Amino acid sequence: MLTAEDFYQLADGNQMPKLGLGMYKVTDESTIQTLVAGAYQAGYRLFDTAQMYQNEAMMGRAFQNAGLARQSIFVTTKIAEENQGYDATLRSLESSLKALQMDYVDLLLVHWPLHQHFFDTWRAFERAKAEGMVRSIGVSNYGQIHLQYLATQANEMPVVNQIEVHPYLGQKAIQAYHQENQIVTQAWAPLGRGGELNDPLVQRLATQYGKSPAQIVIRWHLQNGTALIPKSSQVERVQANIDVFDFELAPEDVNALYGLERYTRISQEPELVYERGAQYPH
Ligand SMILES: NC(=O)c1ccc[n+]([C@@H]2O[C@H](COP(=O)([O-])OP(=O)(O)OC[C@H]3O[C@@H](n4cnc5c(N)ncnc54)[C@H](OP(=O)(O)O)[C@@H]3O)[C@@H](O)[C@H]2O)c1
Repeated sequence: MLTAEDFYQLADGNQMPKLGLGMYKVTDESTIQTLVAGAYQAGYRLFDTAQMYQNEAMMGRAFQNAGLARQSIFVTTKIAEENQGYDATLRSLESSLKALQMDYVDLLLVHWPLHQHFFDTWRAFERAKAEGMVRSIGVSNYGQIHLQYLATQANEMPVVNQIEVHPYLGQKAIQAYHQENQIVTQAWAPLGRGGELNDPLVQRLATQYGKSPAQIVIRWHLQNGTALIPKSSQVERVQANIDVFDFELAPEDVNALYGLERYTRISQEPELVYERGAQYPH
């Protein structure tokens, strides 16, 4: 059962579930059907897709097949680099909405900052929001410098920045900046793509709390005030990953997990790759 505590308040007045399901690299239709239905049943309301993931149409069919009322779910999609620019953003958003079988998405993100279309893309986001095609607008992979640059021309600022965060990349500085500027941090690769679940400290805490390593890391994000979208293609894991609202890590254990910082990234450092074609593979 969801409660108000399971949502973050966004600066635009909307609410966003703290925990959602990531859908990167899930492109098998029957898996998507099983995951969407199983996740909803387990309490997930937020589903994170992107034009780049090439599964928006499958997600749309899965929502329909599961019979989920539009207002009962929170759907995020992201504008791909090749669709940036004012007209292209709006056109590609129409295609995404058609694929998702929706007349709005809850959250639209710029997938990566691109110098070439930096302000035009954002103007299109502001228009899409004004026209009701999206409820909230945000960005992804923006560094502090990008946010400050955007602020020089934006009429409204992003309410979410979806960035890479996991115990080996705690992102403390930008998270503090987000907090000062009413931007919610949403962690991608919150489990470090699974690799960090084998870390000896994570394993020891899992034994100590009687929880799985993934549940320990998910709880760490939540206690830091970070939203997150762990991905699994296995419905049992999806269900276990949301079963984290009945325990709390002691403050010293939260700090100990911050102590795992290695500044290692799965993706590129966004402040260094600000041009088309430089971001992947990740
Ligand atoms: N904005 C961006 O640029 C960007 C970039 C990357 C990702 N994202 C979003 O963020 C989401 C999450 O990131 P991610 O998929 O890269 O990485 P992640 O969520 O950190 O890790 C996913 C990996 O962890 C494994 N896993 C999940 N739950 C587990 C559990 N309970 N026990 C053991 N292993 C577990 C999964 O394996 P199985 O699938 O086999 O269970 C998968 O290999 C993506 O799906 C996507 O929606 C956004």
